[in-house]
Amino acid sequence: MYHPCITEIYHWILEHTLKKDAVTVDATCGNGKDTLFLAKHSRLVYAFDIQEEAIEETKKRCAGFTNIVYVHDSHERLKDYVRENPDAVVFNFGYRPLSDHTVMTRADTSLPAVKEAMDLLGTKGILILAFYPHEEGRKEREVITQWILEENLVRTVYETKKPDAPVLYLVSKPVMK
Ligand SMILES: C[S@@+](CC[C@H](N)C(=O)[O-])C[C@H]1O[C@@H](n2cnc3c(N)ncnc32)[C@H](O)[C@@H]1O
Repeated sequence: MYHPCITEIYHWILEHTLKKDAVTVDATCGNGKDTLFLAKHSRLVYAFDIQEEAIEETKKRCAGFTNIVYVHDSHERLKDYVRENPDAVVFNFGYRPLSDHTVMTRADTSLPAVKEAMDLLGTKGILILAFYPHEEGRKEREVITQWILEENLVRTVYETKKPDAPVLYLVSKPVMK
């Protein structure tokens, strides 16, 4: 049986749920694949990365799209830039493929960033969290899972039995009764 990779899974979900006027955030734009996907399915996209090269690579990949705001800053400062309540915020954690692997997302900044994103999210919005199985990725998953449980957030998990496979969380606000 064919097992889609986690990016294929969340792209499929977003493609089938985002409305035409959606505002979305790529909190880690890297090589721009997620930003390009979001630009095709949103009215407006914010693309964050702390690496200048990542912003430049994303601009190249997304040439011709006029609905992207590029932010060369850490995603912890999401609220300084994003004026709307986004419909989706994507955190594809880790390091940029084919680049300096020492520059990666870190648990101590990823947790506050994810909290900011959840605060800002529209009532029907969704957080997409893609975790990788290296040491820092496991730490990110651990602290963020703890916070999700404490806040009673709604979480769907896509995980295989393979110990070295990435894991996908879809997270949204608690259901109001
Ligand atoms: C796995 S890559 C993202 C892949 C990307 N979404 C794509 O489609 O190509 C992770 C990215 O997170 C960036 N990053 C690391 N720490 C960050 C932070 N605090 N704020 C924003 N971006 C960060 C890295 O520079 C790297 O480019």
